[in-house]
Amino acid sequence: MARSEQNKLPSHVAIIMDGNGRWARRRGLPRFLGHQQGVKALKKAVRFASDQGIQSLTVYAFSTENWQRPKEEVSFLLDLMHKTFVEEIDELHQEGVRIVLVGDRSNLSADILQLWQNAEGLTQDNTGLTLNVAFNYGGRQELLHVAKVLAQRAAVGDLDPAQIDESMVNDLLYTKGSPDPDLIIRTGGEQRLSNFLLWQSAYSELYVTDVLWPDFNEEHFASALDDFGQRERRFGRVGKKE
Ligand code: IPE
Ligand code: IPE
Ligand code: MG
Repeated sequence: MARSEQNKLPSHVAIIMDGNGRWARRRGLPRFLGHQQGVKALKKAVRFASDQGIQSLTVYAFSTENWQRPKEEVSFLLDLMHKTFVEEIDELHQEGVRIVLVGDRSNLSADILQLWQNAEGLTQDNTGLTLNVAFNYGGRQELLHVAKVLAQRAAVGDLDPAQIDESMVNDLLYTKGSPDPDLIIRTGGEQRLSNFLLWQSAYSELYVTDVLWPDFNEEHFASALDDFGQRERRFGRVGKKE
């Protein structure tokens, strides 16, 4: 039976694409080659998610903490992102992928921001896979942003603090428009969220694999989906098997 027929396909999958540096180091190569290989794995994952009929895929590409890496690595990652956009955007657009930047736009340089705005503008009416790219993203920073907007509205009298509810917060998150992730996959074996989707992950199923991101392929992705299909999600209620 196809996965979609089991009606257990996650609508929204999020991936913490970790392990590029280790992949390279294990081969005696510089870390940046791991990032380059990582882009290939990302292309596979996007196509696979789209073919499976997953609605939203969120990928963690660069965190607010990743700016603390050596400046050569940071600038390599920014250049790689730029190059990947130039090379892939037309094909993604043809495949109906809608690209959304999920992250803090306020401190990005004008040229990087322009890149994202062009990609978002070009693909905004596409109805296929929504590809949220978490870039310059931090979950705590995102929640601070929400808190500041709400506080400002309250300060000028536009908002009664007693009215603040979950939907108001959801509408101010960078991920607004996407449902919460059903499944979060982390490659590279670390069992932590590393500041990813802190609000949105409240009831996400977590799947950690030791596979390093550049090695992550369609079979690994399918295994994660199969594992998800067997989970019982309870959301705090009594389970069906009780
Ligand atoms: C993930 O791989 C990519 C980014 C964080 C940009 P890493 O670069 O963190 O690889 P490891 O974890 O050091 O192996
Ligand atoms: C998480 O990986 C961020 C991305 C995959 C972009 P990190 O490598 O930055 O996370 P830590 O430092 O191991 O927690
Ligand atoms: Mg890492």
